Amino acid sequence: MPLHTQVDESSQDEELEVNPVYVQELTCEIPRYRLPEHGSLPRTALQIVRDELILDGNARLNLATFVTTWMEPEAELLMAECAAKNMIDKDEYPQTAELERRCVNILSNLWNAPPGSAATGCSTTGSSEGCMLGGMALLWRWWARRQTAGLDATKPNLVMGSNVQVCWEKFCRYWQVEPRYVPMVPGRLHLRGAEAAAKCDENTIGVVAILGSTMDGSYEPVLEISQALDRLQAEQGHDVPVHVDGASGGFVAPFLQPDLEWDFRVPRVASINASGHKYGLVYPGVGWVMWRTPDALPDDLIFRVNYLGGEMPTFALNFSRPGAQVAAQYFNFVRLGHRGYQRVHQTCQDVALHLSGEIAKMGPFELLTEGRDLPVFAFKLRDDVTSYSVFDLSERLRMRGWQVPAYTFPADMTDTAVMRIVIRNGFSMDLANLLLSDLRLHVRFLEHHPQTQPPPEIQHKRQSFKH
Ligand SMILES: Cc1ncc(COP(=O)(O)O)c(C=O)c1O
Repeated sequence: MPLHTQVDESSQDEELEVNPVYVQELTCEIPRYRLPEHGSLPRTALQIVRDELILDGNARLNLATFVTTWMEPEAELLMAECAAKNMIDKDEYPQTAELERRCVNILSNLWNAPPGSAATGCSTTGSSEGCMLGGMALLWRWWARRQTAGLDATKPNLVMGSNVQVCWEKFCRYWQVEPRYVPMVPGRLHLRGAEAAAKCDENTIGVVAILGSTMDGSYEPVLEISQALDRLQAEQGHDVPVHVDGASGGFVAPFLQPDLEWDFRVPRVASINASGHKYGLVYPGVGWVMWRTPDALPDDLIFRVNYLGGEMPTFALNFSRPGAQVAAQYFNFVRLGHRGYQRVHQTCQDVALHLSGEIAKMGPFELLTEGRDLPVFAFKLRDDVTSYSVFDLSERLRMRGWQVPAYTFPADMTDTAVMRIVIRNGFSMDLANLLLSDLRLHVRFLEHHPQTQPPPEIQHKRQSFKH
């Protein structure tokens, strides 16, 4: 969450402007930054907060986020009913714990856990927590191996593409693991097997493979990466496990690419995380993480809480967490079933392919991906288009509410600026066609009105608009 700083002295006594019709006495003073002495009527408080929020963007037009912005009214009702349940109180809410257990079982089947392997998993607040837990298990296992063998255990490293989401950078910084990034280069925008294996050594706790990349929606080739690590083990003896960051793809590939081997069918895959609140179609925040076997999750990471007179093992960074999202995840599984998820995601992919195909035909753009893995694609301006940038286009699209992010790629490709479109449930073909007609209009406008460089402080803001 953003870190906020206390406002300066001169602003501390500012008051909120309250519409006189919201209150009984026609005047009402509410300090902006201090706790009010007295409360307000609930309706007044509701109106005040709603008014504050009207400048937020329209979530349905947010093509930047992977996160669910629409659920059915029945799901919303269920979530409201479960809002007061604390996930950690397993003893008090044993049926919520049961729904979580069913979701873990459903996912272990979807991710092809070998029969009888006792694959183990849990819900989290999102993929970031799932990745943190997955990374900790890799680190603890490496420590144990090194200590048992009497070897130095002070210089762990983690191998991944430079396209990883920021949660992996966090994991490495918080746990003092050296991040070993394989850079993106033109023509190879994500991790491949040979490059991953080349970075590994005896201190590598694991390799992260992403399904699919936050940068462009492409899947990293998990099987190829694993086979390269098999060869590494045969040649040099380093046995390096793979964690699949399936934040988005974990809920897409089982439905759109069922034959793709990216999950526990690949023996080297030790653990997988996914966001229930992305293509799992639940409002934020729920994620999932799963280990192939109980051995892949060291016992000293596990804490036990009371459960029906006994104990239940837990692994989490948070303690208290709402139960509503887990109930909603189970609702979606029951509501949609395999075919429902397949239809929802196929519709998203049809829209993504239509949009990317039409954008490719427009002239000034080059596609980096089409949306064939995740229903997500990235595109850039052709090198000879210099009179405006993707940042100008992103800003102009905002005029009608479209939120299409423009950003630069990480180290080694920082001069490549792209736009990325994430298609999610609820973004219809009709909306896609409206977006295309606005895009054509703004391209024409920009072609006739070359843009100048904005001042550096604005330029910095533009490039940091990413998810
Ligand atoms: C590949 C990948 N990993 C991890 C995350 C973090 O996910 P969450 O927002 O669920 O914490 C994201 C978010 O976009 C992602 O794309």
